[in-house]
Amino acid sequence: MMNKLDLVELKYLSKAKEGMNASALADIIDISKFLNEPNGITGMLFFDHGYFGQILEGNRSAIEETWSRIKNDNRHFNIEFLGITEIQDRRFPKWSMNLFDAQEFAIAFPQFAELIKKMHDSDGENIRILKLLWQKV
Ligand SMILES: Cc1cc2nc3c(=O)[nH]c(=O)nc-3n(C[C@H](O)[C@H](O)[C@H](O)COP(=O)(O)O)c2cc1C
Repeated sequence: MMNKLDLVELKYLSKAKEGMNASALADIIDISKFLNEPNGITGMLFFDHGYFGQILEGNRSAIEETWSRIKNDNRHFNIEFLGITEIQDRRFPKWSMNLFDAQEFAIAFPQFAELIKKMHDSDGENIRILKLLWQKV
């Protein structure tokens, strides 16, 4: 059944292009906020050890249009789409986009602090644990 506003949430993981740094991240957040605001899109962007995890929420057509831009962006690759699901309410209504590193994420979402720690403690298993985290988040 379609909800009233056709509100959906989209999740994916990706690997950042070599050399991703604070200024390149700031560029991504700036353009995201600038474009998401008028499109009624909210969400969050996680960045850790060269990997992105993003959650986008908004009207289905706005999300699909934005996704078509994001997935073709050469600042990341190995994009793993984790699906679009219908939602009743936004989880991040105040953020047109908000960046979290692992430490900030563990503080904002204490229920995942243990997984974040596990991810950092495990050598080579990081991506497997990140996938698990992003399926749960
Ligand atoms: C990890 C990542 C996350 C992004 N998130 C968004 C976003 O939330 N909203 C958005 O409009 N663009 C986002 N972008 C930027 C788009 O890929 C794209 O550069 C931008 O929308 C401008 O589109 P254009 O380059 O086709 O003009 C993101 C890019 C990357 C690499």
